[in-house]
Amino acid sequence: MKIDAVTIFPDYFAPLQLSLLGKASDAGIVNFQIHDLRSFASNNHHAVDDTPYGGGAGMVMLPEIWGLALDPLLENDTDLIILTPAGKRFDQKMAAKFSQSTHLVFACGRYEGIDDRVRQHYQREQYASRNIRVHEVSIGDYVLGGGEVASLVMIEAITRLIPGVLGNPDSLSEESHNEDGYLEYPNFTKPAIWRDIAVPEILLSGNHGEIAKWRANEAAKRAEKNL
Ligand code: ADE
Repeated sequence: MKIDAVTIFPDYFAPLQLSLLGKASDAGIVNFQIHDLRSFASNNHHAVDDTPYGGGAGMVMLPEIWGLALDPLLENDTDLIILTPAGKRFDQKMAAKFSQSTHLVFACGRYEGIDDRVRQHYQREQYASRNIRVHEVSIGDYVLGGGEVASLVMIEAITRLIPGVLGNPDSLSEESHNEDGYLEYPNFTKPAIWRDIAVPEILLSGNHGEIAKWRANEAAKRAEKNL
């Protein structure tokens, strides 16, 4: 999978070299390219934003510069992801879908966001016919300073679903994961007693049927509590 990100803060993406993502990149499973938006700004001050038409607080990122940055990145069959708190909520299902993609481009807006014509333009038929799909995505109902951290969250959740990225593929396929793909029951490891708290007896029993029942029950209790 190829992953491009366009940002005015390329340094935010340093963590891509660490841990699982770093290994996936070294192994050639994922190819990350980070692009500095400011390098496309040819105006005097390398400005990337301006005041909003209609007035109001904040600054809006210039469509011209985004066009110059995105045009060369958009190959046939690409998912262009525009990060915005107003976007569709990212979840495990969306991560699974994007993990099947061959090319993701993350557009990281700052300030009050990117001029909406950028979205409108790349949603035109001329791009749709080349299988270029535009998605506005939010990672949650809170406002970040920009899309960089949101992109990292998405990249981590998406890439770990690509075959070969996780050391132990069973981590993905185990029955004990809920439909969203994560473990819901509490986990314990050594020692059996820590600060007077004992690991639940059943987990030391070796009775796998009873352990599975106990875990399902704990998961249900937890799900209830989090409603
Ligand atoms: N940019 C600012 N806040 C965001 C959020 N919650 N999700 C995605 N992009 C954002």
